[in-house]
Amino acid sequence: MLVNPSEQIIELLKLQQDVGYIGEPLSQLAHALQCADFAAQEDADECVILAALLHDIGHFCDPRAGAMLADGIDFGVHRHEAVGAEYLRLSGLDETIATLVEQHVNAKRYLVATRPAYAAKLSAASQQTLAFQGGPMLADEMLAFEQQARFTDILKLRAWDEAAKRLDVSLPPVSHYSAMLRRNKTQRLSMAELAFFATNGYLHIKDWFNATEVAAICAEVAQLQALPDSPGKWMKYYEHTARGKQLCRIENFLPYQPRLERLARGRSTLGLISELMGESAVLFKEKLNLKLAAGNGFAAHQDAPAFTSFDQHYHITMMLSVDETTQANGCLEVASGAHLKGLLAMNPDLTMTQTAIDQLSWQSVETQPGDLLLFDSYLPHRSAMNETDRARRALYITYNRQGEGGDVRDAYFSAKRAAFPPENERQPGMVYTGGVFNVGNPVDK
Ligand SMILES: [Fe+2]
Ligand SMILES: [Fe+2]
Repeated sequence: MLVNPSEQIIELLKLQQDVGYIGEPLSQLAHALQCADFAAQEDADECVILAALLHDIGHFCDPRAGAMLADGIDFGVHRHEAVGAEYLRLSGLDETIATLVEQHVNAKRYLVATRPAYAAKLSAASQQTLAFQGGPMLADEMLAFEQQARFTDILKLRAWDEAAKRLDVSLPPVSHYSAMLRRNKTQRLSMAELAFFATNGYLHIKDWFNATEVAAICAEVAQLQALPDSPGKWMKYYEHTARGKQLCRIENFLPYQPRLERLARGRSTLGLISELMGESAVLFKEKLNLKLAAGNGFAAHQDAPAFTSFDQHYHITMMLSVDETTQANGCLEVASGAHLKGLLAMNPDLTMTQTAIDQLSWQSVETQPGDLLLFDSYLPHRSAMNETDRARRALYITYNRQGEGGDVRDAYFSAKRAAFPPENERQPGMVYTGGVFNVGNPVDK
């Protein structure tokens, strides 16, 4: 059976639970988890967090690797940074992770050469291994080292490495990093997944974010919901339901929510969308659909006719399920494969005609919190109202091809604000139909 490299990495780390961290009174696993947690606490990129977790994997990923022996004492694998980096490359992880791991020993050699106080504070084991590792850096090595793109991260990683020697701290288990590993590979999707998307026009990826990560996303979304209506900033839209007027959508919020901004434009998300597009993807726009209890559904439509303002012809939307989405609360329904038919017959408001709707077969795609549903801008889709008494919230983040006009996000929201402003920015007596900015959705006009 083929072993999934990410799972193998997790298993390897688990095996280090009782293996001592060379010269220190804690296990390799405890050291790795502490190091990753320091990175996470400082809001480091996911690649940096994973490099922190995996920096010493060279000590235990290859049983054939030679040891550093001094006076009969085993100081671990010789050139463990290179052994580890090579293993991570072969496992298909993002090159940034391997590079950071590869440089963590050089960081020590650099700091010893540039900071006398650092050299004086090195642990006994670390002083012993320094000689094996090439000793303090020479001047020309230091210059080259400082020129690296990830110079700052490399030094931070070293600082966490040295601090990650605490005893009796309780941290998330190593399985917490499984989802993150999957998101930070050079190739995130299998050929089967790419083929499914090409044939069906959508792809459901389960558990892209784990429960802890979803809880953090939920907290961001709750903050977003609580923001007051504020002219010129985030754009809040309302609908009328059996329960009265309620918030149904928020747009243009990424400049005010840095964590969601990182989610939308982070390396792993852009990498994922780019794999589906077959070329570099760039963020087009973002929205949060709330579909609170009794919230209305969306009429059947394709996104493509609404996304033509900037002479663009292809988009992919990533729906991130914040709450579970079910048939009862109005999950997305798609006409699988119908994206290949091009633009279908439309009413003047750009929703699909009843005849066009009736000619397709529709299926519900139910999702769990943390799942993604990626879909092509030509895929017909719709959703029913929320019949439950709980919200059905989902983020919809849309991307265009870098080659089709590049980053037009700000221009898009300026145009939308002018044509279909949020309620608090509307002029009394004016009629706003929304046009291409309001297709198939239940927003109050
Ligand atoms: Fe190390
Ligand atoms: Fe270490």
